[in-house]
Amino acid sequence: MSDPQPLKSTDIISSGVKPTGILHYGNYFGAIRQYIELQDAGEAFYFIVDYHALTMTPPPAELRANTFRIAVDFLALGLDPDKASLFVQSDVPEVTELAWIFSNCLAAGDLERGVSYKDAKQRGQTPNAGLLNYPILQAADILIYRGSVVPVGKDQSQNIEIATRIANRFNHRYSADEPYFVPPRGWILEDVAVVPGLDGQKMSKSYDNTIAIFEEPEVLRKKVMSIPTASTPLAEPMDPDNDHVFGLISLVGDDETVASIRESYLKGGFGFKRAKETLIELLEGYFGEARERRKELMANPEVVRDVMAAGAEKARARATETMRDVRELVGLDWRNA
Ligand code: TRP
Repeated sequence: MSDPQPLKSTDIISSGVKPTGILHYGNYFGAIRQYIELQDAGEAFYFIVDYHALTMTPPPAELRANTFRIAVDFLALGLDPDKASLFVQSDVPEVTELAWIFSNCLAAGDLERGVSYKDAKQRGQTPNAGLLNYPILQAADILIYRGSVVPVGKDQSQNIEIATRIANRFNHRYSADEPYFVPPRGWILEDVAVVPGLDGQKMSKSYDNTIAIFEEPEVLRKKVMSIPTASTPLAEPMDPDNDHVFGLISLVGDDETVASIRESYLKGGFGFKRAKETLIELLEGYFGEARERRKELMANPEVVRDVMAAGAEKARARATETMRDVRELVGLDWRNA
């Protein structure tokens, strides 16, 4: 990971995950795997940001289903609710109150310069006020749990900067003697692992070149078999370093396996068909347990609901504490007049 400063024991990790789309290998190796590993590094709050999803006005049934499915996928992939709190953003409605308070700690111009908002406008859309205010809600997400470390992709740097600016402005205005919020720092995950997509470009939903983590076996097979490879004759050595199949193999194989496949490539007589078959086997092995767990969770939705309720309860307790302090600090406590 590319964080220059190691975590301190007092650091609180917080990050949001959008309930959109189907998770693919790029999401997993680029971010989710790191979220899950961080659960051993300190106290973590991970939330599925359904309020944020509303800026895209998804059909209600879709929002509901995606929120649930992301919860299932994270649990299946190894997020341990005893270590990290996993919950749905809207189960802690206090976050919207903090967002309102924070909206007065930021110049409107800072929002107009927001990348997503500006992009939408440049593309000729008429973005709603939710998209404009998105970074404020994100700052509230982070700071309501008094999060100080935020694992995110590089595309989120501007939002983290805004959260930092808000924390500083709040502290300066309301708690100058003893800064209440710790200005958060981003823990940028981008390029931890660049996962090649089916066409060799970076795997991304927008390139339509993804393989879902929980792809149906037949679809997985078809997709892997369609990865373009060099036209090296079967008997000749193949170049592992310029091959997307090998790129994927090195993500999921253990060192020994990867080394031996590399040798097979270099020796020749191996062929891309066998390489692809090996990749499929490795992928099935790598995500096999998660696939089983996922099936079980899908069959027992009440287990998922209970886990998420427990996560929300823990998060809400912390959020309530923050809001009690914040209300007092800003003067929303008229009874104390
Ligand atoms: N904006 C983030 C994304 O697009 C999602 C997000 C919402 C988030 N709230 C957050 C990330 C708080 C980190 C912290 O991926």
